Parts: sequence; C-alpha cells; structure tokens
Amino acid sequence: MDHFNLKDGVLHAEDVPLPLIADGAQTPAYVYSTATIERHVRVFREALAGLDTPWICFAVKANPNKGVLATLAAQGLGADVVSGGELLRALAAGIPAEKIVFSGVGKTADEMALALRKGIGQFNLESVEEAETLSTVAAAIGMTAPVAFRINPNIDAGTHSKISTGRADDKFGVAYDHALAAYARAAELVGLRVQGVAVHIGSQLTSLAPSRAAFERVGALIADLRAAGHTITTADLGGGLGVPYNPAVPVPPSPADYGAMVQEVTQGWNVRLIFEPGRVIVGNAGVLIARVIRVKEGVNYPFVVLDAGMNDLMRPSLYDAWHEIRAVRPTGERFVANIVGPICETGDTFARAREMDEVKEGDLVAFMTAGAYGATMANTYNSRGLIPEIMVSGHDWALVRDRQPIEALIAADRLPPWLDRGAE
Ligand code: LLP
Repeated sequence: MDHFNLKDGVLHAEDVPLPLIADGAQTPAYVYSTATIERHVRVFREALAGLDTPWICFAVKANPNKGVLATLAAQGLGADVVSGGELLRALAAGIPAEKIVFSGVGKTADEMALALRKGIGQFNLESVEEAETLSTVAAAIGMTAPVAFRINPNIDAGTHSKISTGRADDKFGVAYDHALAAYARAAELVGLRVQGVAVHIGSQLTSLAPSRAAFERVGALIADLRAAGHTITTADLGGGLGVPYNPAVPVPPSPADYGAMVQEVTQGWNVRLIFEPGRVIVGNAGVLIARVIRVKEGVNYPFVVLDAGMNDLMRPSLYDAWHEIRAVRPTGERFVANIVGPICETGDTFARAREMDEVKEGDLVAFMTAGAYGATMANTYNSRGLIPEIMVSGHDWALVRDRQPIEALIAADRLPPWLDRGAE
C-alpha cells in the first residue's frame, strides 16, 4: 500500500498534488512519500514482532538520499552499507554506527579502517582473503573487528539473473562447503572477533522457498560452528523480499508471510537476527514524474517521448523491469503506446505496446514504485544532469536533492595541459 492516490482527478503524493511539485521543481523528478516509508517500516517490524529484538538494517543502496535515511533513522533503523560512501551517508543521516553492517565483495583496506574507526556493528566478510586483510588493518590500528562470513548457499533465488547472488558461480560469499574452514582460519586471525553468519541470495524475490532453503542452511551451519567451538551470536538474513510492480502478476509474499517463515526456521538459533531490507521499505514509497515532450506517430503504436530517460531510471533497460506508468491527470481514456525517453539508443524504452492512460504533449506521467534503485542508479549519460528528489509529508513538500545543473557537469571536466591554451 502507498500514499499516491487520485484526489479530484489528480494524482497526489499524500496531500500534495503532483502537478504542484512539477511546477515547482520541474521534471523529471523523484517524489517520495514519508507516510509510505513509515508505513513499510511499521509493517516490516510488526512482521518480525515474535523475534527477540532483531536489527533492521536498511540496505542503503536502495535509496541513499539523506532525507530518506534520516526518516529511517528516526524510526530506529540501522543500515547495511557496501562502501565507505554509504557508511558516511548513513552516519550523516543519524544512523548509529553500532547498528551498521558492512557488506560487499570489494571492501578496500581504507574502507575497512574507516568502518573500524567509526565503530560499526559487523563486517560481513565475503572471503578468507578479505578476512586476512581486515585482520591486518584492525591489528595495525589496535582494534578488533566484529565479523560474520557471508555464506553462498548455492541456491537459485528465482529472480532476474543480474540480481541473483546465491548461486555457486555468483561472486558473493564463501561457498557453504568451505565455510567451516573459513571460520577456522578467521579464529586464528588476531584482528577479528567472529560473531555471526550472513546470507543474501538475491533481490525482488517472489517466492519464500529459496529464502527458506538458504536460512535452513544457515541454521545447520550455526550448529556445526558451535560444535567446532565458535561463538555465534548473530545471524544476518539479508534482504530480498519482492514488492508488487505489475498488477497483472501475482503479488510477492507479504512481510507477514516472510516473518512467519523466519520465525519458524530460526527457532532455537539463540542469536540476534539482522535483516537488510531495501526495496520493501522504499520501493512503493517513490514515483518518478516526467512530462510528455511529444507523442510521435509510429508504425504499430504511437511513441510517447518523455523528458525522463534510461539514465534517470535504469531498471527497465537493465532488467526489463516493469513499472506502472500512470497519467497524473487521467481522462479515463486508454491507449496502447511505446513509452520512451529522449536518449539515443533503443534501450531507452520504458515500455512497449503498453496499455495505459491516454496522454498527449505536455501531460505529466508518474512511474510508480520507483523509490528503490531509482535515483540511486541514475547517471548523466547524454550529458543530462542528475534529477532532483523531493520528499512529501502530509501537505508539505521539500527538495531533498537539487537538480544537477549542466554547468556543474561541464565544470568537473579538465582539459589536459597540451590542449589548455588558455592556461599558457
Ligand atoms: N543486502 C545485500 C547484501 C544486498 O546485496 C542487497 C541488494 C540487499 C541487502 C537489499 O536487497 P532488497 O531488499 O532491496 O532486495 N538494482 C537492482 C537491485 C539490486 C540489489 C542488490 N543488492 C534492481 O533495481 O532491481
């Protein structure tokens, strides 16, 4: 459920009409609903209510905007970060260091030292090689790093291949069969304190079965590790729960179904559970608004050319992702059209032969469920500056990131000295 609804024939974000934001901030622009974010946090937390004080560590990669992170910090969430940059953003938004876990296969020694100095709660290690580096870094600054190994359970999550992370040949985690050896090695490393196990098998999961299978493997491993003398106090079950994008396909399992499954599988584990939800918290809480530049005649269907492009919302181009596209002032008429951006490649197509609200030049449209992996994956291809982000709360709205002016893009370039005649 979200707070983007038609009122008097106009699509609103909570109590703010989207045309008002389009007039003030121009298009394209991302718009987030605070009430929707807060609702999703509440629903996720209630789904886990039977568990003993779990940590909910928002996957910052899904939406790293400071306004969004500060909203989540106020709700008591921690953070899952995958870079020094995400770590600094989470801290800047008020998320306490001890509720931050650091994931990712490529943490550098500098990022490790930064995270140690900031006092994060857990490093999720993805290899023995990484464990050795972290131990060296920690020992050099006289600290001990709290760690878990991320296990690769060799389970196909049944989602898009590019966002599946738990198959044997995916780059993530330590192979399940190598896990005991990895923990034995970590126990010898003076800079580490082994405390947990982690797993994350993919994103936009639409069935609970693969997660259940992965968690069962984690449970078995915890028992084996304890039998081998390790102290295991945390289990990080990652993120991945899918959200509904397309009303024509079955809805993914609800947080309540997920919570019930977790409660059943983790009984008797006697650990603090950690969760890293991203999409399920912010996905439905954001829309991308865009204006129709023109409607161009096509052979089979008209082309609706928008002022938003694949650089602003990559998901359809990268993953063939389906986002509902609604008219902000629907007339009740429908048509079938190809929805495209202004960028010079055919991949800049948001939808083909899509039945949708009829729109014409100058109209506004909204891409629904664009709050996760939207703005954060945007880029400046075709020399298009990053677009603004807006947060709404009730009747209020505010810019939470400025539009990047083209002058800023150009000013960041430098001429090499041999071309820079002006510098002579
Ligand atoms: N934890 C780890 C270690 C992750 O790698 C991810 C996502 C999450 C948690 C959060 O997963 P979520 O709850 O959001 O599914 N750009 C893609 C999604 C990539 C997800 C990467 N990892 C997309 O637009 O669909």
